[in-house]
Amino acid sequence: MNQPLGRLRLGVNIDHVATIRNARGGDNPSPVRAAIIAQQAGADGITAHLREDRRHIRDGDIEAIMDAITIPLNFEMAATEEMQEIALRHKPHAVCIVPERREERTTEGGLDVARDENKLAHYIAPFADAGSRVSMFIAADARQLEASARIGAPVVELHAGAYCDAHAEGRFDERDAEFDKLQKMTTYGHELGLEVHIGHGLTYESTPPVSAFPEVMELNIGHFLIGEAIFMGLDPAIRRMREVMDDARREAFGG
Ligand code: PXP
Repeated sequence: MNQPLGRLRLGVNIDHVATIRNARGGDNPSPVRAAIIAQQAGADGITAHLREDRRHIRDGDIEAIMDAITIPLNFEMAATEEMQEIALRHKPHAVCIVPERREERTTEGGLDVARDENKLAHYIAPFADAGSRVSMFIAADARQLEASARIGAPVVELHAGAYCDAHAEGRFDERDAEFDKLQKMTTYGHELGLEVHIGHGLTYESTPPVSAFPEVMELNIGHFLIGEAIFMGLDPAIRRMREVMDDARREAFGG
């Protein structure tokens, strides 16, 4: 295939605006304001993770963000009863099911859909009726993709953390091996009928190679953009990422 399946969407994760707010309590900086700026800067969606410990966004942020934007909200959540109830109440455009451990600094691995297949099949069933598209955040692994397809998830997001970490730390053999896995599993996911997204740890340097996968439909990027926003502002940081993605697509596919 030498033409992309569609336009590559950029989902901007605003969790770390909330992390800074929460460091002092109060309302600043506002993740809602960040979501509005992201939309103006060309984001195709806003991603936010309501963690069990509420270290990023809080319950009240969900409705406030959904009220403030017209682009879709991708609501990241662990597969718990509490989160299911919250998501079914708000009915976001998408729910992305992620593994969650209290002691982790960030979402360190993918969801083990193959191990918890029956439980997750049952868990995600109500979201289709609520009109929320379910995405499973998984490692670039054939078993996890196959299990995600079997339980009827329409979307998977492949965890790019291992690729991005190896890239940032100059472990190039490992980076290339992880990149290879992401590439092959993006193609395989598409063959299985899944819509494939990629996220976690992406930067201006690590984003172009994955943007050139013809089957990838969406990238979700947060921490790096919020970090860059400190130096150049959120709007330009997002616009630059959009350019980086578009340039990579143009180089790969022409046009
Ligand atoms: N996608 C998912 C499913 C995530 O859990 C995260 C991190 O919260 C991201 C994307 C964004 O990762 P980062 O903040 O490293 O860009």
